Amino acid sequence: MHTEAFSFQFFPSILAMATLWSFGSSLIFLTKNPPRRANMRTLAAINVEHKMRVPYELKKGQSRIFHTLPSGLNMEVIFQEGAKRKISDKGNDNSENPPLVFIHGSYHAAWCWAEHWLPYFSQNGYDCYALSLLGQGESDAPTGQVAGTLQTHARDVADFIQKEIKLPPVLVGHSFGGLIVQYYIANVRKDKTQVNGSLHPYITGAAMLCSVPPSGNGGIVWRYLFSKPIAAFKITRSLAAKAFQTSLPICRETFFSVAMQDELVLRYQKLMKESSRMPLFDLRKLNASLPVPPLTNPSLPVFVLGAKDDFIVDLEGLQETGRFYGVSPVCIEGVAHDMMLDCSWEKGARVLLSWLSSLDPED
Ligand SMILES: *[C@@H]1O[C@H](CO)[C@@H](O)[C@H](O)[C@H]1NC(C)=O
Ligand SMILES: *[C@@H]1O[C@H](CO)[C@@H](O)[C@H](O)[C@H]1NC(C)=O
Repeated sequence: MHTEAFSFQFFPSILAMATLWSFGSSLIFLTKNPPRRANMRTLAAINVEHKMRVPYELKKGQSRIFHTLPSGLNMEVIFQEGAKRKISDKGNDNSENPPLVFIHGSYHAAWCWAEHWLPYFSQNGYDCYALSLLGQGESDAPTGQVAGTLQTHARDVADFIQKEIKLPPVLVGHSFGGLIVQYYIANVRKDKTQVNGSLHPYITGAAMLCSVPPSGNGGIVWRYLFSKPIAAFKITRSLAAKAFQTSLPICRETFFSVAMQDELVLRYQKLMKESSRMPLFDLRKLNASLPVPPLTNPSLPVFVLGAKDDFIVDLEGLQETGRFYGVSPVCIEGVAHDMMLDCSWEKGARVLLSWLSSLDPED
């Protein structure tokens, strides 16, 4: 798609695009030519070649494992073990920290957590697992045009937790990953002892970071369109038309703080482009699953964290998520949407750590 098509002369079509703005899942509607109908054979060939051509190099202490889902497809998991506390610190191991399971959003994959947050939380004594959703990062891609639905992504996360994680973890979801976490906790068991195969495994808590709110991003789009049309235009160009993949300033403005160094923006831009060759969702189906159903377990600890300089999720979106779960959202100054990669990544990590340490390990 050429950027010339996005001049203000085309405002009505920008409007239409903005309503379809869904972090890339809508591109099939935006192109003039209908999508080519690939037959099963070519699709299978495409899917085999899905893996990232520029693989993410793991940091010290990290390992890459693959979790095989019941479908036979493999999910990439980057693991970093939590540093053990000195025995003198505590007499027994009752105070073992819950493992953390990180869920990325659109255009990202497990690597986005591996860069700063996995080392940080593992040093602080937490076992960390960062997943790549299907069709993203080094995970296998299903056949079809999109990677899944809120339900299938939440089910994949649940399958991983059921089979690989011993203690009830804390789920940490970013952006659209936050919406997947919301779907997970709408279908989670009430306690450790409840046995119900149709509900997702019990967890210790859930944190939503710069998350798409429970009603989806439709509200955000319309707010932007009427209050900040230029921002709406920019976001649409950046995300729906994927200009962030080719323009360094647009990539910085969409995901990072202004102070972010060029080399870093370029590096992450390349990884983002590589991470997602298949949209996470089909927007039309996503819309049908929204708003997210309420919590099955109202006593589940939920944390809603946002960033003041978030160009994608506005303050009202953050407050909507807080209201939905009956918690006061925390909004951090001087941090942009990608709070785990931003130059000020440590600010969000510290706030999340302090919430984590307030959780009762006996629960
Ligand atoms: C499991 O949970 C679902 C959803 O809450 C419920 O409809 C179903 O009856 C439960 N099954 C059992 C065996 O408790
Ligand atoms: C999405 O759903 C809402 C109601 O839930 C509806 O008003 C809106 O038109 C739908 N949008 C699309 C693009 O289907």
